[in-house]
Amino acid sequence: MLTTSIDTQRLRLRRYKPEDLDAYWKLAASNYDIVRWLTGPSWPPQKTELELVAEFALNADPATDTFPFAIEHNGALIGGVDIQKPGDIKEFPELPSIGYWLSTQAQGHGFMLEACVAALHWGYARSNAELFAARVFANNFSSQRVLKRLGFEPVGVCVRFSKPLQQDIENIIMHLPRERFEGLHGDAHVMMGAAQ
Ligand SMILES: CC(C)(COP(=O)(O)OP(=O)(O)OC[C@H]1O[C@@H](n2cnc3c(N)ncnc32)[C@H](O)[C@@H]1OP(=O)(O)O)[C@@H](O)C(=O)NCCC(=O)NCCS
Repeated sequence: MLTTSIDTQRLRLRRYKPEDLDAYWKLAASNYDIVRWLTGPSWPPQKTELELVAEFALNADPATDTFPFAIEHNGALIGGVDIQKPGDIKEFPELPSIGYWLSTQAQGHGFMLEACVAALHWGYARSNAELFAARVFANNFSSQRVLKRLGFEPVGVCVRFSKPLQQDIENIIMHLPRERFEGLHGDAHVMMGAAQ
């Protein structure tokens, strides 16, 4: 049985709850400094999109679906990290990928790196994947620093239409082989033994 609750040194990753939705709306969907770096959401934010996100986040099957973890610090929602099932990055349709956001106030403390390490241990363990992918705007240097610290390396570029910015944006595609991740951050089978 796959766990959906992971404790790290400072954080808890867990399934979203209905009570998170107000904070999600305030911290993420309505915050232009978050939304501007994402491809899919509208700007200005639309409540109808929140309902779709909520329906998916509350019901996602951890065994097979893209699984969105809520990130909690001291009992409060501060961000989210999604383990995306293969297909999200069309240039590498066979690869699972990762996506994330952190509230503006929680940035600058290494929380995202800590959450992503835990989420990737879970992701490698659940699918026995040998490679994870990520896609990041070419000018999103904060996110690229997180990805580099995780061990991701660039493998190519692509262009995506950004819905919030209403323009094409150059993106970098990055890869993280399991071996490199485990060399830097420990063995996923050991770290997530309970998830097997
Ligand atoms: C991308 C994003 C999550 C990065 O947030 P972040 O706070 O910079 O990332 P982390 O939580 O890993 O923190 C890293 C920073 O904390 C610092 N830090 C402080 N204490 C630390 C600690 N104990 N451990 C590690 N880093 C620490 C690091 O030096 C680093 O700062 P630097 O990048 O200036 O060197 C955030 O900018 C965000 O949500 N952006 C909008 C959404 C987005 O871009 N999503 C990704 C789309 S691809």
